Amino acid sequence: MFSTSSLTGSKPEQYAQLTAQARALVHGERDRIANAANLAALVYHALPHLNWVGFYFHDGRELVVGPFQGLPACVRIPLDKGVCGAAASQRVTQRIEDVDAFPGHIACDAASRSELVVPLVQGDALVGVFDLDSPLLARFDADDQAGLEAIAAVFVEALG
Ligand code: SME
Repeated sequence: MFSTSSLTGSKPEQYAQLTAQARALVHGERDRIANAANLAALVYHALPHLNWVGFYFHDGRELVVGPFQGLPACVRIPLDKGVCGAAASQRVTQRIEDVDAFPGHIACDAASRSELVVPLVQGDALVGVFDLDSPLLARFDADDQAGLEAIAAVFVEALG
């Protein structure tokens, strides 16, 4: 049974603790569905002011929704659409303070106001994206980006 301890200290310290919990969760497991499901649940319940946390996987053509926490979401996202498509095609994290100001943002949950999408890349291969939505404007700062990129890296490393 895995239990999350509450996070303490500065934001980078809290992310170091959360990343350690993420590492413990995926330890010894390579199944990407299992790991994505547990990491989505870990992050969704550990961090405040989130309405969606989850994974989209690249099927060779477009992004297909994977394990997540939150309301039901768009199933498929082309690489030239949305914040997720931008992260995947540019292979650069997208930190969007106001989704309404992002041309082509896909509103899966009308409550979403800001979004962070981290590309998941293994070697040269695009695996997918790790996507977080918040009902607050500018919910994600540079510390959040660094911490969530570290957790995304834990997921990619566990793929083997
Ligand atoms: N907002 C995303 C779509 C996915 S949902 O947020 C879960 C986008 O614009 O790509």
